[in-house]
Amino acid sequence: MGTVLMISGKYHKLEINMTFELPKLPYSHDGLAPYISSQTVRHHYGTHTKKYYDTVNDLVVGTIYKKEKTLDDLLTSTSLSIDSKLYKQACQSWNHTFFWEGLCPENDFTPPTDDLEKAIDNSFDSFETFKQEFSKVANELFGSGWVWLVLHNGKLEIASTYNHSRPNSKDTTPLLCLDVWEHAYYLDYPADRKEFVKQWWNIVDWTIVQSRFSKANA
Ligand SMILES: [Fe+2]
Repeated sequence: MGTVLMISGKYHKLEINMTFELPKLPYSHDGLAPYISSQTVRHHYGTHTKKYYDTVNDLVVGTIYKKEKTLDDLLTSTSLSIDSKLYKQACQSWNHTFFWEGLCPENDFTPPTDDLEKAIDNSFDSFETFKQEFSKVANELFGSGWVWLVLHNGKLEIASTYNHSRPNSKDTTPLLCLDVWEHAYYLDYPADRKEFVKQWWNIVDWTIVQSRFSKANA
């Protein structure tokens, strides 16, 4: 994409290379400790998540997808059947970004309040019941995947997806996700996914979930 800038009275053509940029974390690498270590953040965010973005940027070179400005635009333009490799990498980029954005340091943690708290109570009876049901799905998901809190037709539901997949229907809005790929917890909890899931609740950013919920209901 090219644009023209006037610098010092002269016009210059500035070539802007559109890329899908890995968002910076809203906390330091050790900000999620002790529940997720800085080593895991460096590995999971700095290596795995970055690699998904880098691969997407490599794959769109010379294609019609180069013009897309956001991952959402890209995921709307392509599909698993059209371009399987690009779609999977773009989904993984999107899922991971959503995952990292939904976390916060323990000191910033506040439980759900207001209309989100009421919606959780209405859908699951209580926050504790919701946590138990969500954790059960996360612990029992076989292999690699994701667990989601979604708003579906006005009701909160728990969903799970395998590998790269994400909830992807017009009447479903993701509000929160948990990555249960082994790379998300293996350095901190080796083979103990159950303990990882249990500790993850301490760093869920419910203010972000609330903002996603409010936006979905707007
Ligand atoms: Fe991951």
